[in-house]
Amino acid sequence: MAKEKIMIIGAGRYQVPIIEKAKEMGYETIAVSPQGAYPGLDIADKVYYLDVRDEKGILNVARGEKVSGVTTDQTDIAVRTVAYVCTHTGLSGIDYDTATLFTNKLMMRERSRQLGLPTIRYKLCRSLDDAKTFFASLGRSAILKPVDNQGSRGVYMIESMKELEKRFYDTLTFSPTGQAIIEEYIHGREFEVDSIVVNYEEKTLMYADTDLYSIPNVFASKTRLYPSVADSESIEKLLDLNHKTITGFGLKQGLTHSEYIQDEETGEIYLIEAAARGGGSYISSHIAELQTGVNTSEFLINLALGKVKEMPEFETGRCHCGYVTFYLPEGEVIDVGEIDKVRSFSFVKKDTLDDIYPGLKTLSFNDKTARNVVIVDAGSREELLANIETIRKTLNTKVMTRNGIEGPIWR
Ligand SMILES: Nc1ncnc2c1ncn2[C@@H]1O[C@H](COP(=O)(O)OP(=O)(O)O)[C@@H](O)[C@H]1O
Ligand SMILES: [Mg+2]
Repeated sequence: MAKEKIMIIGAGRYQVPIIEKAKEMGYETIAVSPQGAYPGLDIADKVYYLDVRDEKGILNVARGEKVSGVTTDQTDIAVRTVAYVCTHTGLSGIDYDTATLFTNKLMMRERSRQLGLPTIRYKLCRSLDDAKTFFASLGRSAILKPVDNQGSRGVYMIESMKELEKRFYDTLTFSPTGQAIIEEYIHGREFEVDSIVVNYEEKTLMYADTDLYSIPNVFASKTRLYPSVADSESIEKLLDLNHKTITGFGLKQGLTHSEYIQDEETGEIYLIEAAARGGGSYISSHIAELQTGVNTSEFLINLALGKVKEMPEFETGRCHCGYVTFYLPEGEVIDVGEIDKVRSFSFVKKDTLDDIYPGLKTLSFNDKTARNVVIVDAGSREELLANIETIRKTLNTKVMTRNGIEGPIWR
């Protein structure tokens, strides 16, 4: 009998776990991705070279191949396409409007406000004048971002009118629809919550403390540590807000990955953004399993095939784990350093270090996608921090830069 077919949209390193799992489960895997050095292309049974956002083209492939399911994980850019294919074929998935809401920062703010949830003050900017008017009325720092992109591309902190004028058009170029949003900059600690949704029922998988780099306009986390060790009152508020957000946004099924910030002056917690997919950087594929025992790839595949009828049972907070990330400075790698030693540590569970090789030309980093990631586990937060320090001290990669030899940037 011919194998059932499952289509995975996206074939980058973070889609490899779900492609591998689908194969292991006995399905024929059909990957869709542009041509390029995407590792999923080498392991999928069949490949179609299409832009991940090409909704009609990918729908045609799904119909032609008579796939039994379509899914993605760990990337936002495929979320709407998956919903498009599901909507037009009747395959198990979420509807297109919900997928649009979860991939549009303006719509998320509007919906949160309608739901009566605490919402960061914001304004859609159709022109530089719109942005200037809002910034003047705010009277404090703002953040400017494209309404529909990911990976911190085109995101800027705005502290003066001059800076707003300088950044505005650049931000617009990062929006496929040419729209920017400006909002109040909240100072405070950041959290992330992942949950699992079946038949509109939402259950928390895990939640983390997020720590950002101190490099200006690099809005990326240097560590993300699970579970968060914030006070129980804040955690309760956080999980309640996440529940109200995900259910209020009308998500039928899948994984969610959402970022929150707690105003240090008022204690109020606000949504930054919510995604209708598992977290990238191996959060979905590796951290979720360490935290809960749930193999999210298997869950997503079964969900896409219409085989999940009820919420799975799982434990939470099984360990302390998370990721530590680093950038390499701009230049050329002359010595990869102690990658093998780092990998030999029993607490290192997964990494992206095979991306680093002698002669690698490292580019200036301006978004999260240039980060290198190491997944770490431990028995306590203290031990987790110590393990991360050990990795930082050991790695010792050397890059020849314009200013001489430099090592990884960890903070
Ligand atoms: N209103 C805000 N106040 C403070 N920090 C913010 C705000 N909005 C975004 N950030 C920071 O910028 C990062 C990137 O913004 P986000 O909206 O998540 O865009 P992206 O889709 O590029 O991740 C967030 O993770 C957060 O650290
Ligand atoms: Mg984000």
